[in-house]
Amino acid sequence: MTLTYRVPTDDDFDALLRRDEEAFGDVFDDAARLAARDAVDLDRFRMVLDGRDVVGLAGSFEMELTLPGLAVVPLGGTTWVSVAPTHRRQGILRRLLDDVHRDIADRGAPIAGLISSEGGIYERFGYGIATRSRVTTIDRRLVSIAPDFVPAPGSVRLVDPMELVDELVEIHTRYRRARAGEVDRSGAVMKRRLHRLGAGVRCALHADGYALWKIVSNWGNAEPQHRLDLGELTACTADAHVALWHVVLSHDLVGPIRSEQAIGLDDPLPYLLTDQRAVRTDAVHDMLWLRPDDVGRLFAERSYRVDDTFVIEVNDTGERWRVTADDAEPTDTAADLVSTRAGLGSLLLGGTSVTELARGRRVEIDPALLGRADAFFGWSPTPRCTTMF
Ligand SMILES: CC(C)(COP(=O)(O)OP(=O)(O)OC[C@H]1O[C@@H](n2cnc3c(N)ncnc32)[C@H](O)[C@@H]1OP(=O)(O)O)[C@@H](O)C(=O)NCCC(=O)NCCS
Repeated sequence: MTLTYRVPTDDDFDALLRRDEEAFGDVFDDAARLAARDAVDLDRFRMVLDGRDVVGLAGSFEMELTLPGLAVVPLGGTTWVSVAPTHRRQGILRRLLDDVHRDIADRGAPIAGLISSEGGIYERFGYGIATRSRVTTIDRRLVSIAPDFVPAPGSVRLVDPMELVDELVEIHTRYRRARAGEVDRSGAVMKRRLHRLGAGVRCALHADGYALWKIVSNWGNAEPQHRLDLGELTACTADAHVALWHVVLSHDLVGPIRSEQAIGLDDPLPYLLTDQRAVRTDAVHDMLWLRPDDVGRLFAERSYRVDDTFVIEVNDTGERWRVTADDAEPTDTAADLVSTRAGLGSLLLGGTSVTELARGRRVEIDPALLGRADAFFGWSPTPRCTTMF
């Protein structure tokens, strides 16, 4: 079997789409195909051919990632990863990722990131879990915004999101630049997201936020209890947050409000409701995985909540960095904290404590330093990523 690895051209795009459809069970209609074509830069992709058949594929998006302290760095968003079932477990993914990671670094991004289909694949390639997502259900019939917090009417309009993509991107940009873990969305990515939510997507727009949802009807036996699938609720301000939630919760005929990721782990929503228990967590799962490449640059660019100094070592290369609240410099001094590359991916945004990583055997550190290290590397609000890519 002779395999050819190469950069795809425009003529290959439909074959790449078919490979992606086969792998992930999606079906792209014409509009989704165009949105997908707009969103990818094929020079950042690598494909594998066996004869004329595309048997493997991987690429990256040019993206930006917000770090603690709100520095924004280039991110290679690893994506469209698949290998045909006829060719799996022969090292094709490994070879593809080597090429994609090299390409990301050559383009000047200090870090790669991805959203993973399965939990067991990517740690071996240096990716660690950096943000987590919460799946929730709220029974709308039992709860509302508490009377003290009900906003004055008039700040939210119902709109057609496809007609206001630029406005949504502008609001999202303001939001994501203020939240560690979030990544950018271009107009093409926003359109692709709206296509993925599918026909019938509704949008509530506030000057500083928006919510996207679909209603799945269920008339019951003369007891209407439609399901509202909330795709996203993005708010730059506390006023926008409560105003949008008030509209979402004001949907008569709706029973459950389900959300895959609209309610972050530290979302203040429960405090605004008549019943804090009403936000039921159905699942918590990994969301953004990060693979730091230029460790010095990343740990220099992020902020820290306290002044301190730690020497960190990456165990695969042995490189050591003296990290202070202001900078990170190469050093030969003995390390305070030795980590896998994936462990540093989990540490970078401060959403996972050093104590947890040490107990999980991803980080080695003198237990006497754990309190200081948790205070130094930790971050609040909890890093969050709400963009699938
Ligand atoms: C996941 C997938 C891309 C793997 O491709 P592959 O060419 O079979 O992978 P490789 O042969 O290069 O495997 C590389 C390593 O990853 C491991 N690995 C691959 N797939 C794995 C999986 N699903 N779970 C756990 N480990 C996996 C291999 O065992 C191998 O480990 P080792 O080198 O440490 O021994 C392929 O199975 C696939 O297309 N799956 C469906 C689509 C998908 O989930 N894509 C990922 C999207 S984020």
